[in-house]
Order: sequence, then C-alpha cells, then structure tokens
Amino acid sequence: MSSKPLSPLFPCLILLTLLSLYFFSSILSPHNPSSSTSPSIALSASPPCDLFRGQWIFDPNHYPFYDETCPFHRNAWNCLRNKRENMSSITSWKWVPGSCDLQRIDPIRFLASMRNKNIGFVGDSLNENFLVSFLCILRVADKGAKKWKKKGAWRGAYFPNYNVTVAYHRAVLLSKYEWQPKQSKTGDQEGLKGIYRVDVDVPADDWAKISDFYDVLVFNTGHWWNHDKFPKETPLVFYQAGQPIDPPPGMLDGLKVVLGNMISYIENEVPPKTLKFWRLQSPRHFYGGDWNQNGSCLFNQPLEKNELNSWFDPRNNGVNKEARQLNLVIEEAIRGRNIQLLDLTHLSEFRADAHPAIWLGRQDAVSIWGQDCMHWCLPGVPDTWVDILSALIHNTLGRTDG
Ligand SMILES: *[C@@H]1O[C@H](CO)[C@@H](O)[C@H](O)[C@H]1NC(C)=O
Ligand SMILES: *[C@@H]1O[C@H](CO)[C@@H](O)[C@H](O)[C@H]1NC(C)=O
Ligand SMILES: *[C@@H]1O[C@H](CO)[C@@H](O)[C@H](O)[C@H]1NC(C)=O
Repeated sequence: MSSKPLSPLFPCLILLTLLSLYFFSSILSPHNPSSSTSPSIALSASPPCDLFRGQWIFDPNHYPFYDETCPFHRNAWNCLRNKRENMSSITSWKWVPGSCDLQRIDPIRFLASMRNKNIGFVGDSLNENFLVSFLCILRVADKGAKKWKKKGAWRGAYFPNYNVTVAYHRAVLLSKYEWQPKQSKTGDQEGLKGIYRVDVDVPADDWAKISDFYDVLVFNTGHWWNHDKFPKETPLVFYQAGQPIDPPPGMLDGLKVVLGNMISYIENEVPPKTLKFWRLQSPRHFYGGDWNQNGSCLFNQPLEKNELNSWFDPRNNGVNKEARQLNLVIEEAIRGRNIQLLDLTHLSEFRADAHPAIWLGRQDAVSIWGQDCMHWCLPGVPDTWVDILSALIHNTLGRTDG
C-alpha cells in the first residue's frame, strides 16, 4: 500500500543533508540557534522571516515532548497507544524554514511568559487536534495541569503554577446553526428532511460570550463546509437579520458571508489587545479515493515538494483540493484585518505520512468511517504548529509588552 519504498541509502543521504544544512545554516544564519538565549525571531528584520516556507528534514535526535500517557489525549489521535506503525519516524521530521530559524517551544519559558494569561482555540476538530498537542507539550512544564471545563468550553487545561488556561471552544461553522426538521406542509423539495439554519450574523453560543477571557485566540473553520456534512436532504440555509437570505447562497458563498460577519464581530467585540490568529486549512491526504471510497494514507515518508501541486492544486480536481480552495476564500476575507494568518497549510501538505490512517484505537472504526487521513497523529505535525504559534505569540506579546 505504501507508495514509495525507501532505498537503503536514503537515511544516509538524509543524515548528510541534515549535517551539511546544519553546518551551513549555523555559519550563514544571522540567528545562530546555539548562541541565542531567547526564542525571539526577527520577524521584521530583512530578509523577512517566513516560518511557513521551508522543508522537512529527518533528524533522528528530534524527540516529541510527550507520549501516550498524556492525560489530554483523544483516543483516536493517540497513535502511540494505538500502535501506529513507524511513529518514531513520524516524529523525527523537523520543519526547517528557509529564511530563519524556528526554535522549538520551551514549555517552561513559554508558560512563564504567559503567566495570568489565557489562550483559546475556536473552530472545528482540527483546532482541537492543535489544542491537544499544545496541552500535552505545556504539561511538561506543569505536571499539575488540570482538565478545565466551563460552561461553553468544550475542553481545555488549567496550568496552576502559571495561572494559565488553554482551551478549545467547538464552533464548527463559527456562526450559530441549528437543526430544523421539515414542517409537514412546507418542504416540497424531494427528499428534504429538514434544514440546518445558519444565522450568519450570530456567533455560536460556544464562543460568543467568552472572548474577553482570552489574551490569544486562534480561529478556524473549513472542514464542515461540504456536502458530506450537509447533503441536499439536510442542507445549510443561510439567514441574516433573522430572514432567509434571498437568493439563497450556495455553500461557498455562504462561507464568504459567514466569514465577513464573524470577522466583523471579532473586530468589534473582542478587545483590541487580544492577539488574534486565523489558522488556514489543514490539508487531508486521501490517496486513491475519498474517505468513503477506501481512500488511504499509508505513507512512510513526507511527500516531495514537486508532488504537492498534483495532490492539492484545485485545477487537478483531486480529492484533497478543498484546502487550497477554502484558503483563497479565507485569505480574501482576512486581508486588511487585524488578525494574523497562521498559514500552516503548506508545511502540512508534505505530511501524508503523519495521519492516524488505520490505527484508530477501535477495531471497527475503519470499516465504519474509513481511514483517518484528516486529523493528525499526536505526537506529530501539530507539535510543529505549536512551535510556530508560540514563536509568533512570543514575538508579538514580547514586542507590545516592551
Ligand atoms: C489568574 O489570572 C487571571 C486572568 O486570567 C487573573 O484575573 C487572576 O487574578 C489571576 N489569579 C492569580 C491568583 O494571580
Ligand atoms: C472498499 O473496499 C471494500 C473491501 O475491500 C470493498 O468491498 C468496497 O467495494 C470498496 N469501496 C469502494 C467505494 O471502492
Ligand atoms: C513502516 O516502515 C517500513 C520500513 O520503512 C515500511 O516498509 C512500512 O510500509 C511503513 N509503514 C507505514 C504504515 O508507512
């Protein structure tokens, strides 16, 4: 099933590449990793630092911060416990930006710098995947971390030594939406069972009231905007100011209207001092068919750069095209707003090897849902997302706090 057999030379080549890269980067880089004591990155220096462009380099000395015993795991993503094959290779790849150094998060220093502050994630299960990675990493610095639950919060943790809360609010469309069964008279559409009414101008209750609790917020939406989640028997119907929008927008136009409204809400209602991020799409890696057509992701190394377009460019109409498609819509909506883009799509596109695939911790899971080529194994790729997010938080808060 695996697409690319490894030649026996491959590990040696990688090691050589790694050594030479390390050698040259430590000579050429203006920010020598071994000499710098703070995780600061020169975002405003030239050449501009772009943490989102670079390459994955195999580093056998790159270890995850946590294992299967982290109490914040979700079973289906706990790939160590589920005995996913080749986990040690999944966690040995290191993201190396082309134009600057990316330091790994230092959980102690990070929590110390966030003392009395709170970080919130709002969105769908891919943001929850992100959260779980963050919680398991931060727990290294505070073993007394406690599960945190408050009305409206889906899940999270409190780190008592630092008085820091990191939590996730599930709001898959960001806007409020609710199921309305078909009323006997009205539905003359064939097969219609009811609708999901989306109030494009009303944020979902799960996050609407909490936003001033947080100093940092990370938003996302995307994975629910498709006809698998909302087929024509149970479609999304968009309402504005309490009235159905006329003419009714399709899925993608509905997303545009929701984004416009939610971004305005965030700008008007979330305090200006709150650091706001928008995470772009996490790419899926279904190979040979979609999730319900036996699509598979049994790869044992990342994709090559020259493979990415054939997988993801919408013009090729592949099963994983929606990440870049949705990104165009999201980027357009965010442009010019006071929200930083967390463009984790490109670096994640490489990692066809890093999904739970068939190791889901339940015998019948694959026959029911197919392989999981959408969420990520933990430890794994979201740990790199955490490195990048924490570097950006440090850089921004560090700058404004003086
Ligand atoms: C903990 O942090 C909150 C802000 O999130 C603050 O209001 C509270 O006073 C802090 N508690 C302590 C004991 O410092
Ligand atoms: C998926 O695989 C199963 C078992 O091999 C097969 O019966 C089924 O027809 C396949 N489904 C699709 C959509 O290819
Ligand atoms: C695990 O690694 C071995 C050796 O490289 C390879 O043959 C196998 O296909 C890999 N398994 C997966 C799921 O990638």
